[in-house]
Order: sequence, then C-alpha cells, then structure tokens
Amino acid sequence: MFDKDFLWGGATAANQYEGGWQEGKKGISTADCCTRGSKTEPRKVTYKTKDGNIKADNLFGMEINDDVEFGCFEGYDYPSHRASDFYNHYKEDIALMAEMGFKCYRMSIAWTRIFPNGDEEEPNEEGLKFYDQIFDECLKYGIKPLVTLSHYETPVGLVNKWGSWSDSRTIDCFLRYVKSVGERYKDKVKLWLTFNEIDSIIRHPFMTGGLIESRFKPEEFEEVEYQAMHHQFVASALAVKITHENIPDAKVGCMLTKLTYYPYTCKPEDLLEQQQRMRQIYCYSDTQVHGEYPKYLLQMYKNKGFNIKMTDEDLKIMKKYPVDFISFSYYSSSCVAADTKGLEMSAGNTETAIKNPYIPSSDWGWQIDPIGLRISCVDLYDRYRKPLFIVENGLGAKDTVEADGSINDDYRIDYLREHIRQMYKAIEEDGVELMGYTTWAPIDLLSNSTNQMSKRYGFIYVDVDDYGNGTYKRSKKKSYDWYKEVIATNGSSILDD
Ligand code: BG6
Repeated sequence: MFDKDFLWGGATAANQYEGGWQEGKKGISTADCCTRGSKTEPRKVTYKTKDGNIKADNLFGMEINDDVEFGCFEGYDYPSHRASDFYNHYKEDIALMAEMGFKCYRMSIAWTRIFPNGDEEEPNEEGLKFYDQIFDECLKYGIKPLVTLSHYETPVGLVNKWGSWSDSRTIDCFLRYVKSVGERYKDKVKLWLTFNEIDSIIRHPFMTGGLIESRFKPEEFEEVEYQAMHHQFVASALAVKITHENIPDAKVGCMLTKLTYYPYTCKPEDLLEQQQRMRQIYCYSDTQVHGEYPKYLLQMYKNKGFNIKMTDEDLKIMKKYPVDFISFSYYSSSCVAADTKGLEMSAGNTETAIKNPYIPSSDWGWQIDPIGLRISCVDLYDRYRKPLFIVENGLGAKDTVEADGSINDDYRIDYLREHIRQMYKAIEEDGVELMGYTTWAPIDLLSNSTNQMSKRYGFIYVDVDDYGNGTYKRSKKKSYDWYKEVIATNGSSILDD
C-alpha cells in the first residue's frame, strides 16, 4: 500500500492551460509568441526584424540571422492565448479535481502575470490576486498546491532587452518574482519547484532560457547555453534560500526531464554512449542536489575551452542551498548507440532517439515503457538518496467522443495503470522514497512540443480543437472514474487484481 500521505494528483503549466493571455495586465512570455504546430510540423515563434518585417521561425531550430524583437503579431494563430481557458474555468476545474480526490495539484505561476515585462520593481497586484483565488480554491478542498516557478515561459521583455538567461541580470529579476510570490503565498503554498526540466536549456534554448542564437557567433553558442544554465543554477539556489526564509516549512525541489536511455546492444561502445548521454541529463540534478558542479561537467568545459563565468560567491551559494527533493517527468524511454547508421529513429519528449524494438509507441511516436519508470526511480534514488516526486507522467493521445458523449480512453487507463504498478514496485521492492505522483495532465491542455489541443492527456475532456473552435465545455472521460478509484483506495484498486 502507498503511504497514507502519498500525494496523488495531476499537473499543468500556466502557458499550456490558462489562456487569458492579456487578462489582469499579464505581460507576454516566450510561450505566447509560439504559433500552432502539428505532428509533423513544429511550432514556430514570431518576431519583427530590424527593418520591420514580421516573420516566424522553427522554435526547435531557429535560423534567425538578425537582431530581432519577439512578440505576437496579427495574422498568426497563438494557441496559448486561449489554451483551455482555465483563467475563466478555474472553479469548475478545481472542483472536478477535488471530486477525483486530488491530494495535490501541481501548477505553475506565469511569471508575466506577476511581473509583466520581467524587470518591474513592484509586482502586479491583479496577477497576485488571480493565484490567491486558485490557491484558496485548492485549499478549500484540502488540495495541496505544488508550484513551479518557471515552466517554459520567460518574459519576452527580458528576452528582447538582454537575451534573458544569457545575461546575469535576469537572476535578480527572477528573485524579485520569487520573493513576491513567496511572501504573498506563504500560508498557502508549501511545495515549490524552481525550473521545469532545467536540463532542457540545451535541447531548446529559446523555450527554456529565452536564448537567441542569432545574437552570438555560431561557435560561441554552446558556451552561452552553459553560461545561461549557470545563471539558472544560481537563481535556483537563491530561490531555495528565499523560499525557506519566507516559508520555513516549505520544501523546494528541482525538476528534470527523466529521459531514460538503454544501450541499443551490449557492445561496450553502446553502453558508454548511454552513460555519456545520461550524464548530460544528470549534470543538472547532480549540481542542484549536491550543490556543486560534478567534475565531469567541469572537465567538459575545460576540454571544450569554455570559460563559464562563475564567482566564488556563486559557488558558495550553490553549495549552501541545495534542493530538498528531486522531481521529474517521465513519459518514455529510448535507445542510444555509438553508431546510429541504419537504425530506426523514434520521437520522444523534445528529442529523437533510436526506436526500441521491444516496446510499443504512442500516437505521437513516444515509446511506452512502464518498467523504465521503475528503473528511473531506482537510478535517481540510488544516486541522490533524497525523496523523489514524479510530477509528470501520462499519455498524449487522440480521443474520440462517441455519439452518446462518452470518451472511452482505455489506452490511457492501461498506460497509467502499468506505470503506477511499476512506481509501486520501486517503493515496495526497491526501497525508493516517493512523495507523490501527479499525472500530466488531469485535464486536456496544449501540447508543449506541438501546441496542439488534439494531443490530449486529461481525465477531463475540454471541447476545443486545435484552432480554438469549441464550447470549452468540460466532460469526464472513462479514465476520470478510474483515477478517482485509484486515489480513493490509495492505489489498491489496481494493485490487487
Ligand atoms: C514535459 C513538459 O516535458 O512534457 C510539459 O514539462 C509537456 O510542459 C509534457 O506538456 C508533454 O509533452 P507534450 O509535448 O506532449 O506536451
């Protein structure tokens, strides 16, 4: 049986769920400048060139060669501006989560609701009030909010001004925001995460860090990414400090994308490749948990001739304020090999890797591997010996609404049941300490990689399509009652059969 205090729930992110992009004096974030994509076409980000032309470029591989201003422009469709319209449906949505028995709701605060441009001196009261209402609504039902401070939405004001996280001045802006929300919500929020999937700055530097490749020489950009990462490490450590000062009983975690790789064969070269690849992910949590850079990362800087600016004071801060727990997302696993020639590739969470012939794939090509979740839990717990929290796990799929209005998402139930069973084995058989499990996502919202609504994750269906057509009416899918039962029985409904 799961611990009686186990935090069952679901997770969302402001830019994918809230809509209301200009309500309450909200500013524009990087996510607001992204257009709709599709399964085969990535979403694009829009900007104005120096000579006034408006353009759009691939978010995951920008080829801009000018100093541009990012923003939202007429003639483009920006799904985040409407998303699932949580902004106007929050009472109904939280009531539905409460009815499912949620103990915890992971969500993010949109930084641009609190500091619209990112660099104001004072917070925006309307933005603060909005989240007061959300937290009050959660607490009314006994749901603990778990809040991500930064989930893929840097204020565009900071991006245009100085390239956001590539510049150390962003640290102060971020900390002003952290201080404001900590002071304001100190009695309401006790669980915090600093940066969502902090490791992703290397895979998608604009989305995660607001970095603009065209402002640097091509040969310099990788160094810039690691410099920005350093700024985020310092900001994260100081966020831990500030949050503990504001809220002595708070717990602050890091958050990583748990990309789980298997060697494609038992050739030593493939295992070495896998080990190297995992280090590219672990270098973030290694730093945030141990409070210091791992030797292998410093060696990499040296070998590449990088000169990452870090002061003694930065290093002291990082050492003094490590995170209290480790949270992560887990969706799938994939394979790696030293030589990928001729091997079939497969899509994954913001990456492409070798297809594993032993496991199935989702509608979007992500490989489904429940055992990989157990392996991930064991790896992380053995490495850090700190409590873990699975803050994202779920299946993005196409749902069909039947003539009678029902949605029979047995595929989602199968996916979640098998993952929960493996998570249970990690606790019961492997001795892993797990604080909770929040599925991605309890309700349909925009996909991060494609900005589509039709890649649905929820237990709750939202009647809106990729183009924003629909009533936004909420309805329960078959998985809704299933998850409700899982929570009500503290997992035993799916562990006993
Ligand atoms: C995680 C992100 O990586 O994956 C979420 O933190 C995202 O923001 C989730 O939504 C699922 O990915 P996608 O692309 O299917 O939405």
